[in-house]
Amino acid sequence: MIRLGVLISGSGTNLQAMIDAIAAGELDAKIELVVSSRESVYGLKRAEAAGIPTLAMCAADYADREAADRRIAEALLAAGCEYVAMAGYMRMVTEPLLSAFPNRIINIHPALLPSFKGAHGIADAFEYGVKVTGVTVHIANEEYDCGPILAQRAVEVADDDTLESLEDKIHAVEHELYPQVLQDIATGKLVI
Ligand code: GAR
Repeated sequence: MIRLGVLISGSGTNLQAMIDAIAAGELDAKIELVVSSRESVYGLKRAEAAGIPTLAMCAADYADREAADRRIAEALLAAGCEYVAMAGYMRMVTEPLLSAFPNRIINIHPALLPSFKGAHGIADAFEYGVKVTGVTVHIANEEYDCGPILAQRAVEVADDDTLESLEDKIHAVEHELYPQVLQDIATGKLVI
């Protein structure tokens, strides 16, 4: 079993997929702490509903990014987290957090990296007109949406897809792939 910290910034559907996979016995993990970069996001409610302790940061906390990450790292370590899963966390992680969890911070991105990095991976791919996009799970490093790739899954863009239908397809793949990769780490099938 792995002890996870999850970092979020928004609705937390990937967090929910992890909570559900754990409840279904498909992910041998315990989420010890959910950290949100914003207050009042729906993902915090999901954590609270699942009985998971939370730490809610706000924009002002990130005025000094390294101080913010030191605080987050201390909270994650104090909670006993071994791995950190970024799930829609829209902040770069800096040295204090990276060095507290070397090669143990995982991120999910809604495109086939290295294409369409950034906060709008699905829309950017859709507007570019690619015929195939997808989902990437990778190790986070000091560059946003970079770092060694652990898993990718392709998603075809159909001629009649809208941005909304493509988002639905990508999210469905994310919710399957992320718990699977975490389970592969938990069982030792995937060794980092
Ligand atoms: C997800 O699609 C995730 O891949 C994306 O944010 C969304 C969060 O949704 N992350 C990035 O774009 C990172 N660059 P969620 O809060 O419902 O899990």
